[in-house]
Amino acid sequence: MKSKLLKSGHIKLYKRENSNYWQMKIKLPKAKAIRISTGSKILNDAEKISLKYFSTLIKKTNVCIKRSKNIFKKIHLVETDDLTKKEIEFILSESNKFISFNKKRIKKMNLLEGRTIFNLFFEDSTRTRTSFEVAAKRLGADLINVVVKDSSINKGETLLDTMTTINSMNPDILIIRHPEDGISKKISNTVDASVINAGDGSHEHPTQALLDALTIKNKFKDFSKLRIAICGDILHSRVARSNIIILSKLGARINVIGPNEWLPKNIKQFPVKIFTDMKKGLFNCDIVMMLRIQKERIVGKIMSNQKTYFKKYGLDYNKLKYAKKNAFVMHPGPMNRGVEIDSKLADDITRSLIQEQVAMGVAVRMACLDLIIKNRDNLVNN
Ligand code: CP
Repeated sequence: MKSKLLKSGHIKLYKRENSNYWQMKIKLPKAKAIRISTGSKILNDAEKISLKYFSTLIKKTNVCIKRSKNIFKKIHLVETDDLTKKEIEFILSESNKFISFNKKRIKKMNLLEGRTIFNLFFEDSTRTRTSFEVAAKRLGADLINVVVKDSSINKGETLLDTMTTINSMNPDILIIRHPEDGISKKISNTVDASVINAGDGSHEHPTQALLDALTIKNKFKDFSKLRIAICGDILHSRVARSNIIILSKLGARINVIGPNEWLPKNIKQFPVKIFTDMKKGLFNCDIVMMLRIQKERIVGKIMSNQKTYFKKYGLDYNKLKYAKKNAFVMHPGPMNRGVEIDSKLADDITRSLIQEQVAMGVAVRMACLDLIIKNRDNLVNN
């Protein structure tokens, strides 16, 4: 026997009535039992398989995430406005616990085993949709991707009817991306399931801002010493809005930089300094967060020539010199290379945190799914 820990007595092999398959149960003293089907009809093979896979099984089931005192007690995550500084800090510290787990060879735990989560994306997405899917699956939940373009929405069903229909399948969480501002909140008032806003029109993208905050926190620790520039199409950007709210609550000072026509009319209501000139706006900044021109939301409006735009507002090595010496570059993606950001700079891992943002996205979404489901459980139990 290879394993020093595992002995024959710890393995029970059995076959259920009318079943062709052997099952095995591994039970170490003082440890939770592990059950698995061998898929083999042969007893000896089953024992060999159990010994061979024991280390994998142990890694899969024994991952332990230490829980801190829960500060975030909400069952929906639809906007950042109603998050307190303490709640944001708590979500970030819970997210941190998943970072090293996400680097392990075997990335599977059973924290959310048996839970049902729906991805409902009514707008295109690469990062957010897949990252929620990876997060849910790593936690052991069942995630269903609804292919909206093949759904009954095309036959005239209303959005709220679709949500009510899915709600009747007793899901735990609906993750929603939709072009309408405020739709996630509306849906959260209609369904029993929890709702996570994965981007609603030009309004909010809470998990993007949380993952950006986690990326920054892991580089700088103290937000109160930071000045962060958010540059580009501020008017149409849900990422800009959620980041302004979250990063300023954490204590960072924010500069917004963009053409006048792409600054929201109510921008002065936000705790930001406003610039239309990159040189002035980037002065003394530790982070430069670039935004994509939201072409899909500029329908019918005049859009600057892309070359002219890049010359004035696109970030390259020369403009980055206006910021602090070692300033980092961020971008939520998807990027338009050569429009808002120089391609070489985007790929320069000594300056760009773009891939780090994607990695932090999985950790943040794991924490959000876990916390929201635990909060739902607590509501039912109390
Ligand atoms: N940042 C972001 O929301 O990217 P996707 O549109 O690819 O999800």
